[in-house]
Amino acid sequence: MRPQPDFIHEFARGKSERTLLLLHGTGGNERDLIPIGRELDPDASLLSPRGRVLENGMPRFFRRLAEGVFDLDDLKKRTNELADFVTSAAQHYKIESKRIVAVGYSNGANIAASMLLLRPEILSAAILFRAMVPLIPETTPDLSAARVLISEGDHDPIVSAAEAGRLAGLLRSAGADVTIRFYQSGHELTPDDVDLAREWLNDLK
Ligand code: MLT
Repeated sequence: MRPQPDFIHEFARGKSERTLLLLHGTGGNERDLIPIGRELDPDASLLSPRGRVLENGMPRFFRRLAEGVFDLDDLKKRTNELADFVTSAAQHYKIESKRIVAVGYSNGANIAASMLLLRPEILSAAILFRAMVPLIPETTPDLSAARVLISEGDHDPIVSAAEAGRLAGLLRSAGADVTIRFYQSGHELTPDDVDLAREWLNDLK
């Protein structure tokens, strides 16, 4: 039986108890971040769902009204759906639910940040590549056990430095241990992002 709610996904079992929850960007799919997941932690299990929203045929994790303007009702609904999927996948694949680390890029990073804010029990840590503030939660979650790496591009046309700083501040105000880094890059990922994330993840052990 497949995990419910159903997301098309890839699962690769690793040798350690850690699972990387890989969340692709707009127009991506469940295969996109598998090579980066392997590079970040060759021993981790990988769980990689495909976003269930289509924007002109491009998969995403939630609807947006324009670039950087999110449909907040849809975002909340999709965040809960994804959190429920992760919970049922953890049972289905018998993975350690306390060792799930999100690795999200762009739209995937935004839903990972939303999950930290709305469903803080799901993730122990998160790597957010090119993330912005997804929403302001009505009640502040307790993220005092969560560690977050935010990795941004210093000339990203989609995420400004101020926006990235607001996300770091929001997560810190909920108690999360946040590291934020900027690279000489736009919205695209660079090898430096991946190197930093690998080292950061290694230090979590
Ligand atoms: C989003 O819609 O999540 C952000 O604008 C990033 C993107 O997908 O372009």
